[in-house]
Amino acid sequence: MAMQKRKLGKNGPEVSAVGLGCMGLTFAYGPATNKTDAINLIRKAVELGVTFFDTAEAYGPYDNEELLGEALAPFRNEVVIATKFGFREGKPPLGTDSRPSTIRAVAEAALKRLKTETIDLLYQHRVDPNVPIEDVAGTVKDLIGEGKVRHFGLSEAGVQTIRRAHAVQPVSALQSEYSLWWREPEQEILPTLEELGIGFVPFSPLGRGFLTGKIDEHTTFETTDFRSSVPRFSAENRRANQALVYLLATISKRMNATSAQIALAWLMAQKPWIVPIPGTTRQSRLAENIASTEIVLGPDDLKEINAALSAIDIQGARYAEQAQKMIDR
Ligand SMILES: NC(=O)c1ccc[n+]([C@@H]2O[C@H](COP(=O)([O-])OP(=O)(O)OC[C@H]3O[C@@H](n4cnc5c(N)ncnc54)[C@H](OP(=O)(O)O)[C@@H]3O)[C@@H](O)[C@H]2O)c1
Repeated sequence: MAMQKRKLGKNGPEVSAVGLGCMGLTFAYGPATNKTDAINLIRKAVELGVTFFDTAEAYGPYDNEELLGEALAPFRNEVVIATKFGFREGKPPLGTDSRPSTIRAVAEAALKRLKTETIDLLYQHRVDPNVPIEDVAGTVKDLIGEGKVRHFGLSEAGVQTIRRAHAVQPVSALQSEYSLWWREPEQEILPTLEELGIGFVPFSPLGRGFLTGKIDEHTTFETTDFRSSVPRFSAENRRANQALVYLLATISKRMNATSAQIALAWLMAQKPWIVPIPGTTRQSRLAENIASTEIVLGPDDLKEINAALSAIDIQGARYAEQAQKMIDR
């Protein structure tokens, strides 16, 4: 089946309805996948019709962008590559840095690592409280004028920041967490994006793996795995949150799908300008996640899921305190 396409907002690029989040190939979820396997996985995604690839300076830092640069070089004109700037030395624990000089330097370095002349979509990874968003938008506007960047994006930005940025340089996409167990964007973010014609890219659409049903209270995470520091992933909270996993198992069984596919189909059913970017290191799961585009949840399915969800009280914060401080509201 030919891959469905979606347009990211009024001004954004057209991309496959599901993208590939590449972070986990080198960062955040334990040891990196060996390079040959990682390249093969990315190229398999292209073969299966994925045209939207997500990376960031911070994933490594640097080696994730280098990996994409190498893997996607033969297909450069067929795919949309999104990357991000915004941390001091590219390291989230050091805090934000969106000074215009930093943005420029990071963009230049990313162009080299990605082996490209233009970054299709450049996101600010986190809002920097020390740099007015107008200056950030203005710097990206200049980079667009110079042909080094095509589209501007934000990540985990609040509605005021989105409006201020959009007034200087139209924002094509917001990338923030959104999934069956994190629905806050429905309150203010989605209506604002709809009004402004901005696309939405939900990150961690599978709840960092939890929604797939492959993680339970007995799962152990290495200390290098980001999830070992996330309150929502404490053994106690994983046990409490299994109610959501059971719900997904019931629905997916009935629909002859997997829980991962229902979690992704649910996101795509919310708005036609939503493009989830599930991450995986395994080819079998890649194909499974892509096949979610063939599952259509109708109004009755959505009503039923909503009703069931409202009875489930998800336990635990999605970020530890330090990381939570960088979320703009
Ligand atoms: N802007 C931001 O601040 C931000 C933050 C986080 C993430 N992101 C982006 O969003 C992308 C996706 O988010 P994410 O990787 O955090 O979480 P995710 O996509 O919700 O989940 C990824 C996890 O789920 C597992 N998984 C994937 N498909 C599966 C399936 N079909 N069945 C069972 N398990 C499956 C993967 O393990 P295996 O590898 O073993 O399959 C991996 O551990 C990232 O790659 C990154 O590009 C952005």
